[in-house]
Formats: sequence, structure tokens, C-alpha cells
Amino acid sequence: MHILGNRKILLGVSGSVAAYRAPELARRLADHGAEVRSVLTEGGAKLISPLLMQAVTGAPARSSLWDAEAEAAMSHIELARWADCIVVAPATAGTLARLARGEASDLLSTLCLASTAPVLVAPAMNRNMWSNQATQDNCATLRRRGCVVVGPDHGEQACGDVGEGRMSAVPDIIAAVERAIDVSDQLAGQSVLITAGPTREPIDPVRFLSNRSTGTMGFALADAAARAGANVQLVTGPTALPTPPKVGRVDVITAGEMLDAVMKRVPESHIFIACAAVSDYTPANYSPKKLKRGKSAGSLELKTSPDILASVAELPGRPFLVGFAAETQQVEKNARAKLHAKGVDMVVGNQVGKGRGFGDVETSARVVWEGGGQQIGPCDKPEMARLLIGLIAERCGLEKVTLLRARSSAQ
Ligand code: C5P
Repeated sequence: MHILGNRKILLGVSGSVAAYRAPELARRLADHGAEVRSVLTEGGAKLISPLLMQAVTGAPARSSLWDAEAEAAMSHIELARWADCIVVAPATAGTLARLARGEASDLLSTLCLASTAPVLVAPAMNRNMWSNQATQDNCATLRRRGCVVVGPDHGEQACGDVGEGRMSAVPDIIAAVERAIDVSDQLAGQSVLITAGPTREPIDPVRFLSNRSTGTMGFALADAAARAGANVQLVTGPTALPTPPKVGRVDVITAGEMLDAVMKRVPESHIFIACAAVSDYTPANYSPKKLKRGKSAGSLELKTSPDILASVAELPGRPFLVGFAAETQQVEKNARAKLHAKGVDMVVGNQVGKGRGFGDVETSARVVWEGGGQQIGPCDKPEMARLLIGLIAERCGLEKVTLLRARSSAQ
């Protein structure tokens, strides 16, 4: 089921011209399986009809705190409890100010104050109103309290100005809602160490050996593990990716540096996920001077790089180990061979080659463990990461039970 399936979203619409896009947002949220109810501020109700919001959400739109009939059906406190997430889109400068001050002066601000659900705001206003320090301070206050501020985007505005202040696109708001509600406690209390990206093995000061890994999968796993409540350390080779929220990051370049960074952190880790595409070979002799172009081709002497995953597998009291197997053929067979060869608990086999497997693309995986296996995907990498983390949490829990049973029967 989609992350938004059966989730209860309260959509707050305030009085910006962008209110004309609120029905579209409500509709798209519902398309993903969400149950949507809407609340219009006084300004929002002047711009968009409550009847239209009712038609697209299937529930009466509310706008007053003092509506006896609506309160009898569901009080505003019940409505605040009902919501899994509150999305204020568009959020005007006035609404942001009310929320930042913690006001309960209208139905929407009261609901935001009374709810413990995540709150997202999608600001929409004139560019000068947006860049005004007062608005910026209000947004900073809201962010500090955990509210998610989505956008605004840059572009042409209803007033004729061009600049920052347009409400974010509907798919961007939906992606932010998905992120805000996609949290669990599956890995609460667990420390997860993840490697990601390629490594670079220097030949001389300007050249190196590397591979096509972008780090996307490892970063998605780090994000998914943090969302599952884990304490996450991400050891990454060179990538252009931003660090996911609540993830500790260690940047390395070579396989040797990655091994050192991992070994330092393994003793405090319950789970180690080796997702990096560690360069298998490293030049045997680094040239401190740039190698000159010769008349003949010449050859480069190589030595093997340290196998980080296998080194961790040899440690006494090692964490739960997950490896990856990027294969161009016979994915399951090769993944199982790697499970035994490296002595790990789980291997995620991926098909690569012919442009598949690298970067921001759809992927599928054959996950194997001793005595079992599961197919995941095809899906995008964030979804793959979410499903893998769920499976790791499940298998890891089972391992713990098996270990405990083995220990108690040995006593
Ligand atoms: O042996 P192969 O490179 O196919 O194994 C892939 C798995 O081993 C991945 O999980 C990768 O992160 C890990 N690995 C490693 N150190 C290496 C090579 C691979 O940790 N030097």
C-alpha cells in the first residue's frame, strides 16, 4: 500500500491566490489513498468555495470555530486528534505569523495548536512579504518547533512580480507529506552503520580508479533507517548527495579510509549495511608526480583493496550484517554464494548493467538469507530502502530471538 494509504490528512487553506490549487492537492492526496478533510480560513473561504472542497474531499469543509452543527458532528479537538498530518497549503504570511505566535484565534490555528501530528506549511505570498524578516523569523520559529516548511518556489506571481513566493508544486508538497508521516519505531534504540557511494583509489595527484556508483541507495537506506528510529552513521565515498536528516556523516575517499572509519564505529553498531561500491583494486604504487603520457601504453600494477564487509564479518561479536551483490547475471545464485563466502546475514542482489542499477532509477532486488529469500520491487530507491529497512528490522529481530533461544538452551 502507498505510504498515504488510509492516512488522515487535514488540509488547511488560507487566503492566498494559490488557494485555487488546494482542490487539486486534495484530489491528488486522495488518489494516493489518503482520507482528506479541509479547513478554510476566513480568507481561504473568500477565494475558494467550501462546496468545491467538499466535492473533492467527500467531507464538509469547515471554517469556523463557532459552528455549532459542525462541532456537534466532530468537535475541533476530535478533528485535531483525527489528523495524522496537517498540511497548510497555501500558507499566507498572516497564517504563518499566527502559527508562530501559537495563536488559537481561528479554527485552523486552533487545530495546529491542539494537534500532536506533524504540521507542514507551503507558504504562498508576494516575494517582498516572503523575504521580509518578520516572515523569515516566523518560518525559522516554526522549523525549530519541528514544522516542515515546503517551498516556496521562484517564479511569476499573481501580482506581476517575479521572485520567490509561489506555492510549491503539488507533487513536491505530496512528497513532503510522505516524508513527514513515514516514520516508525521499527529500529528504535538500534545503531546502524552504513557505507555508501564509490571509493576513489589514487593513481597520481590527478587520476584515480573508481566506478559508477552515485551513493543514491546507501543514502536512501540511511534516511529510511533514521525514519525507523535508528541512530545512523553513514560512511560515504565521494558523492554529490545531501546528508539525510538525523544522519551522522563521515566522508572518506579511498577503500582504506572507509575501512578505518567503519572499524572505528563497528563496536557501537547493532547493524552494518555495506552498500558502498568499494573499488576492488587499488594501484600498487601511487605516483606523487603526475604520470606523463608515454609513447607506448604501459601498464598499471594493481593490488586488491581491503574487503570491508568480510573484515567486519570476521570480528567476534559482530553486528547483524547486510551486503549487496550487484550482478549482471544469475542474481539469486550469486547473491547466495556471497552470503556464504562473506559470512553475512543477508545479501541484497541487484541486476546491474545495460544502464540499470546506478543513479536515480527504478530498481528491484532479490534479498536472500540462510533458508529464505524475498523479491522486492520494481520500485524507486526510496521505496526500496523503506522496504529493505523493514525486512532488516524483521530479520534482525528474528536473529535476536534465535540467539536468545540458542543461549538459553545452552545453559
Ligand atoms: O565482493 P563484492 O564486491 O561483489 O561484494 C559486494 C559487497 O561487499 C557489498 O556489500 C560491498 O559494500 C561489500 N564490499 C566491501 N569491501 C570491498 C568490496 C565489497 O565492503 N572491498
